[in-house]
Amino acid sequence: MARGDLGAAAGVRVRLWDAPIRLVHWLLVGLIAFAWWSRKDHLDWHRWAGYAVLGLVIFRVYWGFAGAGAARFASFVKGPRATLAYLATVPRRTPSGTPGHNPLGALSILAILVALALQTVTGLFAVDVDGIESGPLSDRVSFETGRRLAELHEQAFTALEALIALHVAAVLFYLVWKRTDLVGPMITGRRTFARDPGYPATPRWRLALGVALAAAAAWFVSKGLKL
Ligand code: HEM
Ligand code: HEM
Repeated sequence: MARGDLGAAAGVRVRLWDAPIRLVHWLLVGLIAFAWWSRKDHLDWHRWAGYAVLGLVIFRVYWGFAGAGAARFASFVKGPRATLAYLATVPRRTPSGTPGHNPLGALSILAILVALALQTVTGLFAVDVDGIESGPLSDRVSFETGRRLAELHEQAFTALEALIALHVAAVLFYLVWKRTDLVGPMITGRRTFARDPGYPATPRWRLALGVALAAAAAWFVSKGLKL
């Protein structure tokens, strides 16, 4: 039995995370790091990385409704009762058996997506102190509002850093305390469960539609909402 897998040797190896989920995840990691690195001296690159992040967030939200299995919000967003019940099991050293995000992880994922939306949207309106560098929608607001949004853009990053730190700490907690490797499945897509959750595949056209919508939205925004 592989480390972190569930059930006895009879467990079933299933595809948990589809390719779009994994690609979005690792692209987000790379692009956020790049946006951080380029934030002061390479604002052109910074903005492009930001548009890409915005496109990925739009796609992930779309995929939460149009995708299948563990990608769907409906499969992992739970109410307070289920979340509290899950919380009570966290100290146990047994691997978590949720075939997808557990109810607590779901909250952290939603918070990261909201923080990323805030980060990118405030960036679109941000202006720097001397009004030289700005987002493509900054001409729609006054200079003062652009400055306020630039400050919010910086604060959003502090919140994002805290959420990411918590996220990585949770992944490490699962590895060390629960002996559950969550990173491997986020790379290969596969994990072993006692029972097959029976997640269906998503039709290709839905993927194509989502990619087209997200790319078009990010591009349109990058052009200042002008064709
Ligand atoms: C993942 C997405 C993003 C991250 C993590 C991010 C992060 C940051 C951070 C931390 C700063 C503060 C720089 C400093 O230390 O002075 C900054 C500045 C800035 N960002 Fe972003 N940003 C993102 C997306 C965007 C987007 C989409 C745009 C606009 C298209 C944008 C436009 C700007 C501008 C114009 C500034 C300069 C504001 C100023 O100097 O006050 N950013 N960004
Ligand atoms: C910029 C940094 C990061 C961001 C913004 C981020 C964001 C996310 C998001 C949004 C998800 C949900 C996946 C989905 O359903 O679409 C997720 C899941 C996950 N992330 Fe990250 N992540 C970051 C860094 C990392 C790092 C460094 C690791 C590895 C140590 C990691 C490991 C994972 C794992 C294992 C999951 C799946 C958790 C589970 O099984 O429920 N993430 N992350």
